[in-house]
Amino acid sequence: MQSKILLSEDQLPKQWYNITPDMPGVMSPVIHPGTLQPVSPDDLLPLFPMGLIEQEVSQERWIDIPEEIREIYKLWRPSPLFRAHQLEKALGTPAKIYYKYEGVSPAGSHKPNTAVPQAYYNKIAGTKRIASETGAGQWGASIALACQHFGLECTVYMVKVSYGQKPYRKSMMQLWGADVFPSPSDKTNAGRSILANDPDNQGSLGIAISEAVEDAATHEDTRYALGSVLNHVCMHQTIIGLEAKEQMKIAGDYPDVVIACHGGGSNFAGLAFPFVSDKANGKDVRLLAVEPASCPTLTKGVYAFDYGDTAKMAPISKMYTLGHDFMPPGIHAGGLRYHGASPLVSQLVHEGIVETKAVAQTACFEAAVLFARTESIIPAPESSHAIRGAIDEALQAKEEGKEKVILFNLSGHGHVDMAAYDAYFNNELVDYEYPEAAIKESLSHLPKVG
Ligand SMILES: Cc1ncc(COP(=O)(O)O)c(C=O)c1O
Repeated sequence: MQSKILLSEDQLPKQWYNITPDMPGVMSPVIHPGTLQPVSPDDLLPLFPMGLIEQEVSQERWIDIPEEIREIYKLWRPSPLFRAHQLEKALGTPAKIYYKYEGVSPAGSHKPNTAVPQAYYNKIAGTKRIASETGAGQWGASIALACQHFGLECTVYMVKVSYGQKPYRKSMMQLWGADVFPSPSDKTNAGRSILANDPDNQGSLGIAISEAVEDAATHEDTRYALGSVLNHVCMHQTIIGLEAKEQMKIAGDYPDVVIACHGGGSNFAGLAFPFVSDKANGKDVRLLAVEPASCPTLTKGVYAFDYGDTAKMAPISKMYTLGHDFMPPGIHAGGLRYHGASPLVSQLVHEGIVETKAVAQTACFEAAVLFARTESIIPAPESSHAIRGAIDEALQAKEEGKEKVILFNLSGHGHVDMAAYDAYFNNELVDYEYPEAAIKESLSHLPKVG
């Protein structure tokens, strides 16, 4: 009855897995937002250091993790894999539930897995400052701590609704040395123009990305860092799935279904991508991305070229999108309020390799409370979507009398999200209807890419 399956520090993976050479079908090019032509690596240089641009377009299946990054990863990695015995008992399910726990990182989520390499490749390229955005604050805290490790300055534009809901995440970023501004802010043209039309605008990831991209593009010594979506970000996160595969081997099980929540796609990619190649080689494994019903990018969006940000400054990618100016409702899972998705995850969804599901926030909190009362860990609201997905699979296994093996990613803890739990217990959380009219309007503004 082992509960924790641990790897030693010398079992920390030495390479990330790049799924690009194993993708089914042809990948669509990334398009320049100004010229509407495919971008070249040089077009991306004002935003990213060459080390990351090379990873973004790399066709190498395995990419070495530099020793300087492994040293910092070892502060919290390898992360534990748990068998959820207590949750299984409470559900009375014959299913075996495993979860990979990324809340053991100093920032409390999976985000430092990519923040650290992003800061490292910027440092060796001579960058002085990183500008970035954050939704719930998990990414902002992660890039702040990563910048500290490599002596970089850090500016974070934090979505205004989260800045109000999660003041301690702002404090964490400041503790790790970052300057934090609520977005939309008066620091950038993008922010000022949104505030001119709507002074009470509560912000969105799309707007915060516009501000950070503008900041980086207009300062020679500054580069931009994105916490999700991009190919290199998804690749850095594969350390989660690579470790989990080793740990599942030790447990003597292989998952029937791999589940993660989906905001921009990075924690899903991180856990699931190393299993995608098994599936291509004939393994019977399902991959399930769970997203909020109020921001249903994968389940209700269209697969089309769209801007990564609201002000149309970020590159255009082919992805599932609700439209770059869609404003998702202010749900507590702030890190899942993004109009778009990783092009890699999107293509796998489009090809039918990845399944998707949208869930309402109260059903997620119900699942998170059961999880906290059985396994004891308090989940981040974002991660509660994966828990909902896993519990639903386990209940279905119970109905069918099947001993299904479920693996999900507990992408972060919720210690700084207690206001959300308070709101749940005070019956203040609402389930937003599928915002069909707003999505339809927003989808009418997609760029026309030949
Ligand atoms: C704990 C946690 N999980 C999941 C996400 C969603 O991001 P992604 O889809 O890139 O993993 C976030 C985003 O901030 C997060 O903080």
